[in-house]
Amino acid sequence: MQQAIAIMDSGVGGLTVAREVMRQLPREQIIYFGDTARTPYGPRDLMEVRAFTEQIVDYLMTFNPKMIVIACNTATAAALDTIAEKVDIPVVGVIHPGARAAISKANNGIIGVIGTKGTVDSGAYAQALKQISPFVNVVSRACPSFVPLVEQGHFSGRATYEIVKNELLPLRALPLDCLILGCTHYPFLADTIQRVMGPSVKLISSAEETAREVSTILYEKGQLETGDSIPEHRFLHSGESDMFEKIAQKWLAEYIARTKAIWQVASMQG
Ligand code: DGL
Repeated sequence: MQQAIAIMDSGVGGLTVAREVMRQLPREQIIYFGDTARTPYGPRDLMEVRAFTEQIVDYLMTFNPKMIVIACNTATAAALDTIAEKVDIPVVGVIHPGARAAISKANNGIIGVIGTKGTVDSGAYAQALKQISPFVNVVSRACPSFVPLVEQGHFSGRATYEIVKNELLPLRALPLDCLILGCTHYPFLADTIQRVMGPSVKLISSAEETAREVSTILYEKGQLETGDSIPEHRFLHSGESDMFEKIAQKWLAEYIARTKAIWQVASMQG
C-alpha cells in the first residue's frame, strides 16, 4: 500500500509546492488539502491559524501519510513546531526552504520578503535568513490583497497589475537583490510581480527547495517510491467555491494527465 505525502494550505497556494513535488518525485502519491472555506489565513491571529492547521493535520493523519508538508507560510510560522512535536512522521514547512533558496541566489544586496500579514508580523523570514547568514539585509512587506486575487483566479490583466503595483510601490524604490515570494499563493502572480519589480530583481519561491527537502528526507529514510504503479492523488478542499478545482486542474494539468486524481470536498468545523 503506497503511503502519500500530505500537503496542506489555506487554499490553492500550496499547489505551487505540490506541483514541484510532482515534478521532482513523479512516483509519489499526493494528498492535498486546501482550506478554501476559511481562506485567507493571513489576516487571522496566529493562534487561530495554529488551531486550523492542527485540525487539518489530524484529518490528514487519518490517511496514514509518510510526511506532512505545511505548504503555507502563515501556517508554518504559526504551527510548524507544534505539529512537528505532535506527529511521528517528518513535517516540512516552507519558510526555511524559502530562506535557503534566497541565500543561494542572493549577492550582497537587500533581500525583500513579501507575505501575508501573519507571516510578516511573525518575523519568521528575517529570523530564518539571519540564522543562515547574519549579514543579510532584509526588508519585509505584507501584501494582503494578493491572496484573494489568486483564490479568485485573477493572475494577470490590467486590474491585477494595478493592485500588484500599488502593493509593491515601496519596495520598488529599494535596491533589492531578490524578492522572496513568502506566501505560496504568490507564484501564481509571478509574471505580474516580475513586470512590476523589473528584470533585475530575482523572484524566489520556496516550492523548488521545499520539494528538494521532501526528496532528501524520503531518500534518507529509504521511503522514496520505487515501483511502477501510477500514483493516485487526492485533492480535498473545504468548499465554498468551485474555483479550487478549476485552478488546480489547470495548474497541475501536465502532472495529473499521466496519473489518477480524486477530487473531493471535505468540510472542516470551526
Ligand atoms: N498560502 C499561504 C501562505 O503561504 C496562506 C495565504 C492566506 O491564506 O492568507 O502564507
